[in-house]
Amino acid sequence: MAASRVSSVFRTGLFVDKVAIVTGGGTGIGRAIVQELLHLGCKVVIASRNEERLHKSENCLRQEIPKNSPAEIKSIQCNIRKEEEVKNLMSSTISAFGKIDYLVNNGGGQFASPASAIRTKGWNAVVDTNLTGTFLCCREVYNAWMEEHGGSIVNIVVDLWNGFPGMAHTSAARAGIVNLSKSLSLEWAHNGVRINNVAPGTVYSETAAANYPNPELFNQVGPTVPAKRLGKLEEISAAVCFLLSPAASYITGDTIKVDGGSSLYGHAMWEIPDHDKYPVYNWDEDEQVAKEQCNKMTKSKL
Ligand SMILES: NC(=O)c1ccc[n+]([C@@H]2O[C@H](COP(=O)([O-])OP(=O)(O)OC[C@H]3O[C@@H](n4cnc5c(N)ncnc54)[C@H](OP(=O)(O)O)[C@@H]3O)[C@@H](O)[C@H]2O)c1
Repeated sequence: MAASRVSSVFRTGLFVDKVAIVTGGGTGIGRAIVQELLHLGCKVVIASRNEERLHKSENCLRQEIPKNSPAEIKSIQCNIRKEEEVKNLMSSTISAFGKIDYLVNNGGGQFASPASAIRTKGWNAVVDTNLTGTFLCCREVYNAWMEEHGGSIVNIVVDLWNGFPGMAHTSAARAGIVNLSKSLSLEWAHNGVRINNVAPGTVYSETAAANYPNPELFNQVGPTVPAKRLGKLEEISAAVCFLLSPAASYITGDTIKVDGGSSLYGHAMWEIPDHDKYPVYNWDEDEQVAKEQCNKMTKSKL
């Protein structure tokens, strides 16, 4: 993988002396977040399951760090569904870099399926990864570091505001994260911990497209978005860097939608067929049924 050009609207050196963990930081959206954090001087740990791909990304991202920059990168293999591995992620980061200022819960995934065809195993896997995995990372970073020293957490969720037909498992899990963030922002306010979410619309990356049997789906979504295009990786990264930064120091328990307006505009890829199956609530009919029941009861008493 060739080193790519990185830029940022944020000031040079914004994250010097800061340490961040980005789960899923070796690919797609997570990788863009890591590129911008490194560009701004941060020390970053990337964590995910696939060790080989993680090491490749680590080496490639290291090449992008300018020679005189204090930025550093390290990879730590971690399945966020496994409690012990999450505990190890936190303690190894503290051993390597001395602290943890920021946690970006970006690692996650799902598969497209109508809800009626989702097996319990698949449902549990998606909820375990996206909701429980995020919870474990929040709990462990708090217990290992942020309870005493404060910090900022950003979770990547999805465009869930009108439900997510075809992805019911992940939108249920991410809605759980949105609510979890509100609870944690209150429980941990007195420790100086802020926690927020970024909800991307559809954003293309090679690895994201590889998760779906029909990667063409991504091309079909663009024209249905008010912005008339897909989101870019760096547009998600900019929102994450903003929420981590001091510019967001009075923002907690909230979610920024980065979706080109799609959450206001209906469902791009889900058509409801014409039908007449929806029962009507009708006062006249209701009254008729009540009268019939009353008559029956009176007759049975006689
Ligand atoms: N692309 C979009 O349109 C879009 C829209 C809304 C939300 N999102 C969300 O944004 C996040 C990043 O997605 P992406 O589009 O950049 O796709 P991606 O490249 O497939 O990124 C997913 C990352 O999560 C990691 N991951 C998955 N399961 C994990 C686990 N159990 N433990 C640790 N790491 C795990 C993967 O690495 P390993 O396989 O090595 O574990 C991978 O690096 C995901 O949460 C995704 O659902 C994406």
